[in-house]
Amino acid sequence: MRIDIVSVVPEILHGSFSNFLIKRAINKGLIDIHIHDLRLYGLGKRKKVDDYPYGGGSGMVIRIEPVYQCFSELLSKRDYDEKIFMTPEGNLFSQKNAKSLTEKKNIIILCGRYKGIDQRIRDHLISKEISIGKYILSGGELAAAVVVESIVRLLPGVIQNQDSILTDSFQKKSFVAPPIYTRPSIYKGWAVPEILLSGHHKKIKDWFYKKSMQVKKRRLDS
Ligand code: ADE
Repeated sequence: MRIDIVSVVPEILHGSFSNFLIKRAINKGLIDIHIHDLRLYGLGKRKKVDDYPYGGGSGMVIRIEPVYQCFSELLSKRDYDEKIFMTPEGNLFSQKNAKSLTEKKNIIILCGRYKGIDQRIRDHLISKEISIGKYILSGGELAAAVVVESIVRLLPGVIQNQDSILTDSFQKKSFVAPPIYTRPSIYKGWAVPEILLSGHHKKIKDWFYKKSMQVKKRRLDS
């Protein structure tokens, strides 16, 4: 799978993908991530990518030409299954969306900045708009990093223990992760529930199920 990310602040993205999981996926050839600096496609000597909004108002708007140039260059080399724009106005991203994106071969992710992007980019160049939550970030870069990480960890071969993916809280529709513990069994007098140390697999399984239901109920009540 190949992901091309387009941004005016690519340095934010470079930092986001230096973690172990993504590096392993890259080294194994499971994912190919390319970060593009939109400024390289900017206009004139000053490589301008933004301008004042028509009709007035505060803030700058990303112009269509640099985005069109960058996209054209990418599209001339390969087909893309999705051209995604990260925006708080997009469809709320879910685990189901992450899973469906793992089935794509090539995707482009465009990160917004400033007041927004020229509407014609959304109308003519974008196939999907994604929001990672009902809050406003200064740009789409961190949101894109969230989407990429959620995709990459689902690619077969990235996480060695596939069991851990299957038991992720949101992977199965109704499953809520129960509390988990590791060593030491007692820390500052705070003890791990005895049942987990009992070695009694059936009882432990029942306990996890019961706890999972309690967490679920608590979440629904709150
Ligand atoms: N850009 C700014 N805020 C965002 C959000 N919540 N989701 C996706 N992209 C964004």
